[in-house]
Amino acid sequence: MSNAELSNMLHETRSFEPPAELAAHANLTAEAYAEAKEDRLAFWGKQAERITWAEPFTEVLDWSDAPHSKWYVGGKLNAAYNCLDRHVENGLGDRVAYHFEAENGDQRDITYAELLAQVCQAANGLIELGVKTGDRVAIYMPMIPETVVAMLACARLGAPHTVIFAGFSAQSIEDRVKDCGVEVVITADGANRRGKASALKPTVDEAVAKCPGVRHVLVVKRTGQDVAWNDDLDLWWSDVVEHQSTEHQCEFFDAEHPLYIMYSSGTTGKPKGVLHTTGGYLVGVSYTHWAVFDLKADQDVFWTAADIGWVTGHSYIVYGPLANATTSVLYEGTPDTPHQGRWWEIISKYQVNILYCAPTAIRTFMKWGRQIPEKFDLSSLRLIGSVGEPINPEAYMWYREVIGGNNCPVVDTWWQTENGMILISPLPGVTAGKPGSAMTPLPGVTAAIYNEAGEPVDKGGAGYLVITEPWPAMLRTLWGDDDRYQNTYWSRFPGVYFSGDSAKLDEDGDYWLMGRVDDVINVSGHRMSTTEIESALVSHPMVAEAAVVGAADAMTGQSIEAFVILRESAKGGGDDVVAELRNHVAKVIGSIAKPRSIMVVPDLPKTRSGKIMRRLLKDVAEDREPGDSTTLADSSVMDLIQENLSSKPSDGG
Ligand code: WT7
Repeated sequence: MSNAELSNMLHETRSFEPPAELAAHANLTAEAYAEAKEDRLAFWGKQAERITWAEPFTEVLDWSDAPHSKWYVGGKLNAAYNCLDRHVENGLGDRVAYHFEAENGDQRDITYAELLAQVCQAANGLIELGVKTGDRVAIYMPMIPETVVAMLACARLGAPHTVIFAGFSAQSIEDRVKDCGVEVVITADGANRRGKASALKPTVDEAVAKCPGVRHVLVVKRTGQDVAWNDDLDLWWSDVVEHQSTEHQCEFFDAEHPLYIMYSSGTTGKPKGVLHTTGGYLVGVSYTHWAVFDLKADQDVFWTAADIGWVTGHSYIVYGPLANATTSVLYEGTPDTPHQGRWWEIISKYQVNILYCAPTAIRTFMKWGRQIPEKFDLSSLRLIGSVGEPINPEAYMWYREVIGGNNCPVVDTWWQTENGMILISPLPGVTAGKPGSAMTPLPGVTAAIYNEAGEPVDKGGAGYLVITEPWPAMLRTLWGDDDRYQNTYWSRFPGVYFSGDSAKLDEDGDYWLMGRVDDVINVSGHRMSTTEIESALVSHPMVAEAAVVGAADAMTGQSIEAFVILRESAKGGGDDVVAELRNHVAKVIGSIAKPRSIMVVPDLPKTRSGKIMRRLLKDVAEDREPGDSTTLADSSVMDLIQENLSSKPSDGG
């Protein structure tokens, strides 16, 4: 977002009251704020009644070993039981859990009873492969029902899953598999994407060849393409799962039993294994899914248009909606295949009531034009949500008007992989929404904006967004690196959770998110580490040094812009060098991390202590006159860079 746009945002005066009809029947009313303020832990104790406990908990929160929290101490539960069995026991077996739609025309409705049967079969299959409680299982899959089945089968056995977004490279899979000691990987032959079958298994093959700890690779047949087969490792999912019994008696685990690990980019090179546990996480996602989306499980069709490979999918395609016995849409494919009205066609087909997606998607639809959604009947929608990055007022207004028909509340939800659940958002039946603001911490959540000194700023002030008290779905640690957990989140301001975001409080006390304060950039709602991309670039033999910055981008929020110094031997390679380096980044991290442009420069701006001044590079990338460069060790570097750039166009592909 440009500075001008940001400053317009902060002077936004429009505000939209909740529709009267929705407010009259809203799940959560304004009293909840007061109730939670009065006794926060009692409030969270009450929310825990949403979950079925095999053993009741004796204490809501144990924070005596801060920053390590234990929620719902002594409670026992099974996440899969809560997502499936109990609904079937309550007579909801015939309710559709997912309307599955795929780009290639496949469609299938899966009921709760069917999903339970499949999860039991998969759990029995995994047991046969020797998967035990506590073992880690990696999942590298398309957006298909089997992905949900695999996750819940793991949860059922208490075997934490780590889902790896299917756009990641073999190297990224290898890093994750090794970091958390995975023995079984679940994947598919391929996925349907942009009208073609893309391959998944070769990437897994390449990764597991370097992971001696992996014993089995389970392969779901999705696209039917030919795959290389390693008899020592590979097994077809159908051979292992389909002959199994559809019954499985689940065990109940401690509330703090690990549920999953989700890797996320941080400020240093190595992705962090964010650990979520069972009880608090399930309470958190169930509560927020019900409160923020005003979910009426017996009426609504809900659609989170995100990938299960990210936390948004974990919390609001899988665990939250299933815990709440929701009917959801599950969509495999891209928004423009076979045509640009695909999402709207799905909404009218299934009469979707609640849509949750990212601003980058909304901006793309804006670019395609309102005439496309206007061809479809979107009148079933009653609430629309946004997540992943700040939604600029222009996109908010378009979303509200063109998609929401001016009568759906827009919930702009702020949260992070580490948070597990939405933390800051309007309440749709209570809060008047302002375009561009995530509004207020949810009842039960206590946030603040701190200045440098760690004092809360007043209305009108800006600073660092912190969460001042623990919340149930918070991460418990970083897998295998508790020091990093403590340093990253709990040391900047002792005792409170540091989000890494900056924010502003407006005159009404509402929150405006302003982006990351660290070396993390946000591309289309996906978190990318500049240092991770720099390491990838430097790992190429042609590159001597690299610096990566995020530049404002009208469509993706930010874009990845790289500056590299080539080794002497590589100079004079021209455009091929740039193309080669972009592909190299895709190979090391995944195609989502490809820099939009790579500028070959003679030198990089550094301070006397050798720190790269990314701020100046950002100025260049955003086409501005570079700011103050007096602290540079060599002040002529910026002139050199600019001369160099004006003499030769950079790669825009
Ligand atoms: C970062 C977290 C869990 C959501 C998916 C991304 C940014 C997220 C908003 C929002 C402004 C937002 C923040 C945050 N962010 N939602 N509504 N408004 N910024 O999860 O990859 O863990 O990224 O996304 O900068 O720190 P993530």
